Amino acid sequence: MTPSLVDAEDGADFDAPFNIAGFWLWPVGSAPAVRTELGLELDPGGVFGSGLHPTTQLCLERLLELPPAACILDVGTGTGILALAALQLGVERAVLLDLDPRALEVAALNAARNGLSERVEIEPDGLRAVARRFPRVVANMPSAELIEIAPALIRVLGSGADLVLSGIYEAQLEEVRGVYRNLGLRTGLESTRAGWHCLEFWPSW
Ligand SMILES: C[S@@+](CC[C@H](N)C(=O)[O-])C[C@H]1O[C@@H](n2cnc3c(N)ncnc32)[C@H](O)[C@@H]1O
Repeated sequence: MTPSLVDAEDGADFDAPFNIAGFWLWPVGSAPAVRTELGLELDPGGVFGSGLHPTTQLCLERLLELPPAACILDVGTGTGILALAALQLGVERAVLLDLDPRALEVAALNAARNGLSERVEIEPDGLRAVARRFPRVVANMPSAELIEIAPALIRVLGSGADLVLSGIYEAQLEEVRGVYRNLGLRTGLESTRAGWHCLEFWPSW
């Protein structure tokens, strides 16, 4: 059976600092004892994105490996964790969007908490309102959503862009991979944890 990604993680268990490949995440007021340049203080605020879920971790690990880019689009930002981490890793600017207005409020507060507000733009009108192309796009959401938004996601990819997708459980892996390949993308690196997969794609144009 495919586990549900929706409501899978609301930050309730996020009560102590931890790190993902050296990138620290900690709840408000619980900074790690070790001094770290790379990390985020997060208030999950009841939305997805504390870093505890494997799908978030897989995306973050891939973002840690990629070279800095001028801008990232974070589709389904939740707490803002992936976009804010990318900014700390050297990406200059981030555009965040989410269907859930509460997530946008939480993400904006987390940006401010980490001194990143000036490099963040919140897009309240969703993917259809995005008119420009990006060198890096990340989307962690259920497979059905990734399939539904595939044409819109491809429309915002610049030439040579990285598209990092997660939220894909193993039973849906072939289908999601096939949809994006059929739309003209080449497959990049893939990683997996606890049955969840993260796929990277590059445009062939
Ligand atoms: C699994 S959470 C990911 C949160 C965070 N990016 C992370 O990696 O932890 C998925 C988020 O995508 C949002 N979402 C789902 N479908 C969406 C869509 N079609 N467009 C924008 N956001 C969407 C949900 O509201 C939710 O906040």
